[in-house]
Amino acid sequence: MGVQHIPVMVEEVMTFLRCEAGRTYVDATLGGGGHASEILKRTAPDGVLIGMEWDEDALFEATRTLKPFGDRVRIFRENFIQLPDLMKDESVDGILLDLGLSSIQLEKEGRGFSFRGDSPLDMRMDQRLDQTAADLVNRLSLEELEYIISHYGEERWAKRIARAIIQEREREPIRTTEALRKVVYRAIPKRFHSRRIDPATRTFQAFRIKVNEELENLKKMLDAGWKILKRGGRICIISFHSLEDRMVKETFRRLEKESEMRILTKKPVTPSEEEQKRNPRSRSAKLRCAERI
Ligand SMILES: C[S@@+](CC[C@H](N)C(=O)[O-])C[C@H]1O[C@@H](n2cnc3c(N)ncnc32)[C@H](O)[C@@H]1O
Repeated sequence: MGVQHIPVMVEEVMTFLRCEAGRTYVDATLGGGGHASEILKRTAPDGVLIGMEWDEDALFEATRTLKPFGDRVRIFRENFIQLPDLMKDESVDGILLDLGLSSIQLEKEGRGFSFRGDSPLDMRMDQRLDQTAADLVNRLSLEELEYIISHYGEERWAKRIARAIIQEREREPIRTTEALRKVVYRAIPKRFHSRRIDPATRTFQAFRIKVNEELENLKKMLDAGWKILKRGGRICIISFHSLEDRMVKETFRRLEKESEMRILTKKPVTPSEEEQKRNPRSRSAKLRCAERI
């Protein structure tokens, strides 16, 4: 058995989605299938779950987890931006987006998401995407590197790190997570190395977001994806960094002004202390939810 992913804020999500028998839900980020199986349990005996996941490893886990639910589950290996096309004229009672990475991806060797250990600098969630993090790191200009690290990583040392990447790759291409980690460590002055988070965290986050076009995908989903909701249908979005959370907050506010949606979470919901202790990965999670009017 592979690594297990612990789903976050399950009770909170289930309460907002108001799962009931006979209803249809979309889990657009299946991961290991934790939230999805809870939705299926609570919509028994005839609720339907449409699941999307673009990562082969996660899809494998989710398919196995959801097998007991038989033909109540329909799974697609697709980017969730395809949702409106996939659904054609069908509408649903709820949508869940649980963004970011699953532990299945983070902890599997060879995927390049973690700076612990050494693996090829890949970072593609969908193995069919054509650019890896190594491609970007070794090809982009100084300005592009600085923009990505500063904007997607919210890293104050972006300029120094970008310069250090260029210097290093002139010597030798940067092909592994360890090689990138070392460049970042050297670029950030020692006295600014935080003990709380690894100095490479923000740079790794930046390249992951860029490789997978995470913000563009979320934007497309917020522009169009919610339109498959029935009136009274609800969308729950769990995000793990401020760039995503800001985008969700601003879009919900605009849709509320335009009388398309009603916001159900004036402030983002965060995991209880008990959950944060039990599952440290949940600490940065923020849940926002809205209802289609
Ligand atoms: C945090 S995990 C979801 C965990 C899941 N809720 C569970 O209970 O196991 C996020 C998942 O979304 C997937 N994902 C991220 N962006 C995606 C996209 N644009 N299209 C499809 N899947 C995506 C990732 O591959 C990852 O497996």
